[in-house]
Amino acid sequence: KELINEVKAFNKTSKEEIEAFRIKYLGSKGLLKGLFAEFKNIDPKLKKEFGQALNTLKISAEEKVKTLTASLENSDEQKSIYGDLTRPSEPIELGARHPISIVKNQIVDVFSRIGFTISEGPEIEDDWHNFTALNLPEYHPARDMQDTFFVEKHKNVEKDLLLRTHTSSVQIRFMENNKPPIRTISPGRVFRNEDISARSHCIFHQVEGLYIDTDVSFADLKQTLIYFTKEMFGKSKIRLRPSYFPFTEPSAEVDIYWGLKTETDYKITKGTGWLEIMGCGMVDPNVLRNTKIDPEKYSGFAFGMGIERIAMLLYQIPDIRMLFENDIRFLEQFKSVI
Ligand code: PHE
Repeated sequence: KELINEVKAFNKTSKEEIEAFRIKYLGSKGLLKGLFAEFKNIDPKLKKEFGQALNTLKISAEEKVKTLTASLENSDEQKSIYGDLTRPSEPIELGARHPISIVKNQIVDVFSRIGFTISEGPEIEDDWHNFTALNLPEYHPARDMQDTFFVEKHKNVEKDLLLRTHTSSVQIRFMENNKPPIRTISPGRVFRNEDISARSHCIFHQVEGLYIDTDVSFADLKQTLIYFTKEMFGKSKIRLRPSYFPFTEPSAEVDIYWGLKTETDYKITKGTGWLEIMGCGMVDPNVLRNTKIDPEKYSGFAFGMGIERIAMLLYQIPDIRMLFENDIRFLEQFKSVI
């Protein structure tokens, strides 16, 4: 009886302990073997009771070995294949869109509502698409307006390869491959050999737009800008300052009146409340000719803006470098914006 209780109470779970238990009770020199050998010496009157007790002991011991071994195998299997199934699961971390993507998508959205398509082109560009076709032939002084990173420099400029300094290059490609009416915007990354500071970076992003059709006028351009600023910023107090770009004539710079409510407004508008947000103008007839579009028949306007500057204004980001450092503490603040 004592032995039966001992067997029932046994509860060790290591492989070695279970094996030692098995040998002790069920092994070829084990306790049960000895007890069964005793059987013939037992008083016949007690044989029945003794026999039953022996059987119970044997069955209990066998059961014990079986269940303990099974549970051992189970937990081994769990650990190796599934890990610990009782452990609470890891929370799923949601990422956030980068503010540049958020603002780019918003700009694209505003222009697609009035029929603009999206066009893209290579970041490594040839001289023709970045400069010459845009009415910037070799030795044109305005080539210095955009300090260029060259990938390959040749005696013959036409063979030069460079990192595009604006996405106007995409518009040249689009004009070469499509007939008017043309309504397209070109978002993308651009590169200029400029010192990095709180306000400017050598890598940034632009959205440039192009509209070419019969009878497109400066009034159409202005109305499009008013529509855009209203949709994008919820306000459309803008001013156009005469400016110069080789590919547009006349040309203008667009300022939006933002006000001076915060310190960041103060910083990025240089204390004036006005912020220059883009360049624009009527496409120069030379550019149309360079892309085989007849300037007698068609006219058009173009504009180009930097995404960083608009993102800085909208999200009150005081330093452009924050947009490139990928500091998780900065990026995760955009989680709620889609
Ligand atoms: N390409 C000009 C720039 O990058 C912007 C621009 C585009 C100006 C179209 C006028 C017309 O600065």
